[in-house]
Order: sequence, then C-alpha cells, then structure tokens
Amino acid sequence: SRSIRLAVIPGDGIGPEVVAEGLKVLEAVAPSGGLNFEQTSYDLGAARWHRTGETLPDSVLDELREQEVILLGAVGDPSVPSGVLERGLLLRTRFELDHYVNLRPVKLFPGVTTPLAGVAPDDIDMVVVREGTEGPYTGVGGVLRKGTRHEVATQESVNTAFGVERVIRYAFEVAASRPRRHLTLVHKDNVLTFAGDLYQRTLKRVGAEYPQVTTAYTHVDAATMFFVNDPRRFDVVVTDNLFGDIITDIGAAIAGGIGLAASGNVNPDRTAPSMFEPVHGSAPDIAGQGKADPTATILSVAMLLDHVGAGDAARRVERAVSDDLGERGALGARSTAQIGDAIAKRVSG
Ligand code: NAD
Ligand code: IPM
Ligand code: MN
Repeated sequence: SRSIRLAVIPGDGIGPEVVAEGLKVLEAVAPSGGLNFEQTSYDLGAARWHRTGETLPDSVLDELREQEVILLGAVGDPSVPSGVLERGLLLRTRFELDHYVNLRPVKLFPGVTTPLAGVAPDDIDMVVVREGTEGPYTGVGGVLRKGTRHEVATQESVNTAFGVERVIRYAFEVAASRPRRHLTLVHKDNVLTFAGDLYQRTLKRVGAEYPQVTTAYTHVDAATMFFVNDPRRFDVVVTDNLFGDIITDIGAAIAGGIGLAASGNVNPDRTAPSMFEPVHGSAPDIAGQGKADPTATILSVAMLLDHVGAGDAARRVERAVSDDLGERGALGARSTAQIGDAIAKRVSG
C-alpha cells in the first residue's frame, strides 16, 4: 500500500472532537484505497500558547513542509486574544505554504434541510474559489495614536497581478471541468476600484483562453442576496479572500449549516502540502459536549483524499456522507462520535 505522510492539527474547542471523527473515517476507508496514512499530530493552539507563548514555531512549520498533506480542526479560543492564533497559526500556515486557493464547495445534499424555500439539491451546487494569500488578510497596515480619540487604524488590501492571475486561472480550470462551465467573479469594483479593476481585467484576459466558460460579474453585496434568493445562478465563484470568507458562511447556511461545510487550503503547484479543514471555527459555545457535527471535517477528508490522488476513496466517503445525511431526519439527535461511527461503518462496509 502507498504511504502518505499526514500532519494532524486538532487545534481548539471542537477541533479535536471533529478531527477524531475525520480520522476515524480516513482510517476506515484507507485500506480499500490501498493507502496507509503515517500520522504526526501537532499540539498547536490555545493550550500550547498558554504553556509556551508559541503559536507556530519555525521548527514546526519546517516539519509541516515535509508532510504530504495536513488535516486541521479549528483554532481560536476565548482565553486567547482574538487574532493571536487565527493570524499566528492558521493564516501563517496558509501564507507560508502558499495556499492560494481556498476551495469551498457549497452543495445541498438530498434530504438535507435548507432554510430556503422551494429549492432542490440541484439548485445549490457551486464551488467557491476563495483567494487565500492576499487581499485584506496580509496584515499590511497598522495603528497610530492607539487608545486616543485620534486613533487611526488602517488595514490594507494587497492584490498582486501574480496572485490574482493564478487564482482566476485555477477557477477557470474548475469551471471548465464542470457541466455548466460558468464562472462568476464576486467583488466590489464599484468601490474597491483598484483591486476590483485588477480582478476584472484579469478575468477578461485569462477568460480569452477559456472560450467554453461563460463568465459573469456580481457585486458582493448583491451576491449575498442571490445566494439566498437565487442560488441557481452560481456554478463556480472566484473572489477575494475576505469576500470569500463571508459568502462561504452564507453558502454553508443555505446548504444545511456550518456543520456540513468543507474546505481545502490548496497549493495547486504542490510546492508545499495543502491543508484541509472544516469551514467552521472552534465553536466554544458547544465545545466538550459531543454536540459538534463532524460531517464538515469528514467531507474535508474526502477533499484531502482527492488531493492525494485517491479519488475512489474520496467518492466512497462522499457517498457514505450523502447516505448518512439522507437518513438523518429519521434518526433524531446523535453525538459527534455517533455520526462519525455511522459514516466510518459505511465506508468500511
Ligand atoms: P464558529 O464557526 O466556531 O461558530 C459559529 C456557530 O456555529 C456557533 O454557534 C457554533 O456552535 C456553530 N458551529 C460551528 N461548527 C459547528 C459544528 N461542527 N457543529 C455544530 N455547530 C457548529 O465561529 P465563531 O463563533 O465566529 O468563532 C469561534 C472561534 O473560532 C473564534 O476564535 C474564531 O476566530 C475561530 N474560527 C476559526 C476558524 C478556523 O480555524 N478555520 C474558522 C472560523 C472561526
Ligand atoms: C475561516 C476562518 C478564518 C478566515 C479565520 C479564523 C482566520 O474564518 O477559515 O473561514 O477568516 O479565513
Ligand atoms: Mn470564516
């Protein structure tokens, strides 16, 4: 069997709870795919920070670079100042490992309850290609005269021709591989004129190489509305880092909830390992109670399997999730582990 070096970062809050179930499913499906995951677990997150003051030591980052792929739970804890772990651990990993594509499918599985009226599963089936290394996330900016009435806080959005082109090109590739072959740029080019214009011009230029893909443009504010009242208009969406963060939580909500939303922080050039994680955070409000839905993590495991070339195993996991979701209505409340057990049983059986 093929050995794959897997780094596991359970993280904070419900992170360890959902990662345990993701690994359960991964281990259950691996033999059928002829795979053997050599796992290394990293204790990064709030506990490590309290103990040592470290978020992501350089030595750990170097070890992560040597792995083939990474599975992450979630980071962030009320006992740690906001941003310390989010920036110092999660965003640093995305930036250092050049995860320029943050891939976030938004798909309504049959039998799943959506808050939208009158939509069928086929009506919500999109892939959001969120830029992952630029935009307002870079940390460029600063604060002047902090704590005074004259405080000035700036937070710049950084957008490079190189960065915008590579994410748009990736989005065209995804669109070209899907039946509808439609790509929507979501931005705010009526206000963020410099960045929006760069995205628009790049869309046109790269789009000339993909005549089979139709394109559209939607302002992000209108896009949030259309996600709710006309999700059918979207197939593949390409967007800036921050807009992508926001619209994928809306995407999660319309497709059955944040507990089902999977993602991949992808380095398509494979110069460093990609990292797969649920879209949700550490959910301190439900942590430690066995209430977290591990499905988002399990679907992220399916994306991870696809990334390492184990498409058959990925499809097996997706089918198991789909079958489980189809029966949920009749089952009543289940714990995190019960859901993981049920899906693991389906993939091994
Ligand atoms: P959150 O996603 O953690 O929680 C939002 C709501 O969704 C909460 O009510 C929570 O209970 C619920 N929820 C989340 N995941 C769930 C699951 N699997 N099953 C059932 N319910 C679930 O977002 P937040 O409350 O805004 O942030 C909490 C912390 O997580 C913060 O520190 C934030 O910075 C961090 N965060 C981390 C990530 C990440 O690691 N990728 C993502 C988002 C937020
Ligand atoms: C996400 C999260 C992160 C983001 C935070 C925790 C840095 O919200 O993965 O969606 O904004 O990307
Ligand atoms: Mn988010």
